[in-house]
Amino acid sequence: MSETFHRVVKVDEVEEKAMLPFVVNRWPLFVCREEGKLHVMINRCTHAASALAPEGRVRRGSVMCPLHGARFKLDTGECLGGAGYKPLMLFPFREDAEGWIEVAVPDAAPGAEHLPVKPLN
Ligand code: FES
Repeated sequence: MSETFHRVVKVDEVEEKAMLPFVVNRWPLFVCREEGKLHVMINRCTHAASALAPEGRVRRGSVMCPLHGARFKLDTGECLGGAGYKPLMLFPFREDAEGWIEVAVPDAAPGAEHLPVKPLN
């Protein structure tokens, strides 16, 4: 699947513990930071398709879904706590020379399995 890098937000605008939602080429994603490290993940819980950001919580290396509390590892997307939901999709990203986070998003539109049930703002 081909993908293209898109500018999303400036690195210094992502505060510690923030969960910033974006839609890039129709893909819902969020950018977050914990202990200084950035992460970019799909903004759709693999349990019942809730948006994770901005109401979710970043804590101890994981993100918690605001709807039923499932937790997923920030580094791998793996579901924690034995619930066994599919892992969250991670997006490759990089910082450009002007301090922007560029996220690699598939060129193809997302399918329903990648979209949250709640409308995105
Ligand atoms: S929708 Fe996320 S835990 Fe249920």
